[in-house]
Amino acid sequence: MKEKKVTFAYREYNTSSELTIQERKLLAEARKSSVNAYSPYSDFSVGSVVLLANGKIVSGNNQENIAFPSGLCAERVAVFAAGAQFPGVPFKAVAITARSDNFSVKQPVTPCGACRQVLMEYENRYKTPIRIILQGEKGKIWIFESCGNLLPMAYVSEELKRQSER
Ligand code: THU
Repeated sequence: MKEKKVTFAYREYNTSSELTIQERKLLAEARKSSVNAYSPYSDFSVGSVVLLANGKIVSGNNQENIAFPSGLCAERVAVFAAGAQFPGVPFKAVAITARSDNFSVKQPVTPCGACRQVLMEYENRYKTPIRIILQGEKGKIWIFESCGNLLPMAYVSEELKRQSER
């Protein structure tokens, strides 16, 4: 028996002044997108953007539904829109931010498990790590160099992959 450990690194910044101009812009665009969230049930408005390898930025926000599970997180709205509009263009980065009228979101909001799984598909599809940039309304910023860091030991089926290459 061997005990194995999985570790991952991420960077924490105290202020956005430590970020690159591009990272700041992505967070600002995500924040802008959160204004258009449709979140009457949670009052938690999330905005997300995808930066594509061609420099385009595609945004999304959470879209809730009275049948709760039918709604979709901001990240998946943005990611699927990017995939739909720019097939074949790798994703370089994803920024996510959140706000609420009821309380202040002081912590970065990390993507849910389903969104991590969806992001992994695009990392694998384009063999390009997706940098994940997170911030609440303000406060600390977390940056992960790859979505893989957020989903260690992600599901991979070599057989299924080979099938799709046929
Ligand atoms: N939500 C997102 O859009 N992204 C996340 O990363 C976490 C949660 C949404 C789902 C739901 O509409 C609301 O936030 C409350 O969970």
